[in-house]
Amino acid sequence: MTRRKMLVGNWKMYKTIAETRSFAEVLGRNLGKLSAEMDFAVCPPFTALQVAKVVLPTQVAVGAQNMHQSKNGAFTGEVAAPMLQEIGVKYVVLGHSERRQMFAETDEAVRDKVEAAQEAGFIPILCVGENDAERNSGETMTVVARQTQIGLEKARPDGDAIVIAYEPVWAIGTGKTPSPKDAEKVIAAIREVVVVALGETEAAKTRILYGGSVKPANIAEFVAEKDIDGALVGGASLDPESFVAMAEAMG
Ligand code: G3H
Repeated sequence: MTRRKMLVGNWKMYKTIAETRSFAEVLGRNLGKLSAEMDFAVCPPFTALQVAKVVLPTQVAVGAQNMHQSKNGAFTGEVAAPMLQEIGVKYVVLGHSERRQMFAETDEAVRDKVEAAQEAGFIPILCVGENDAERNSGETMTVVARQTQIGLEKARPDGDAIVIAYEPVWAIGTGKTPSPKDAEKVIAAIREVVVVALGETEAAKTRILYGGSVKPANIAEFVAEKDIDGALVGGASLDPESFVAMAEAMG
C-alpha cells in the first residue's frame, strides 16, 4: 500500500493575518519545490484561517487547530464545524497534547470531536503521544494505544478519512526526538490499533505522521521509515523557507 506523504505545519498561537500573507508570498515563489506526489497543509490560528485559505497556493491545504464537538451553543471562545466549513478548511488537528494538557481535553472529548469533524467533511489529524513521566515508566505503548483506540471509537471505517499524528510530548519544542527507529516502532503499534478499529484494508490507507522537534535536518530520516507517512511540524513550519526545505527533504 502506497500512502501519499504529508507535511503539515501547526502554527499554534503564532502569526497574524499580515504574517500569514507574507508566508504565502514566499511559498508562492517556491511552488516548483513542492512535489505533486505529496500533500501539504498549514494550520494557522482561527483569526488567520480565512486569509490563509485565500492567499495560500492551492497545493497547500488549510487546517484548523481545534474544533468544538457541538454544531453551536453557549461555549464562549469555541469554534464549531459550520464556521470552519464556510472557510473551506480541509483538516482539523484534534487532541493535540497542548489541548489535552492545558485545556483538559479528555480522550472521550477528542473522540466526539473526531466524529463531529468527519460528519462535517473534514479530515481529523488525531494527535496521540506519551509524556515524559509515562515514557520513563514504560507506559508509551499503553498510552498511545488508549488514545488511539478511544479517539477512533466513533470514526468512520474509512482509512482515508483520518490522519494520526504520533507526537511524544517530551519531544515537542524541546529539540529532543526519539530515534527514527523508536518512532517507527510506536507508529507501527499505533497502526495495529487502527487495524482493530477500522479493519486491515482501511488501516493500510491511514496516514500516520511523526511530530516533535522535526526540522529540515532530520525530517528525511523519519519519513524514510516504513510506517511514518510524514510530519506534523510546529516551530520549524513557521518560516516558509524552512517549510519548503522540509518539503524538499521529504521528496
Ligand atoms: O503540532 C506540532 C507539534 O506539537 C510539534 O511541535 O515541531 O515545535 O516540536 P515542534
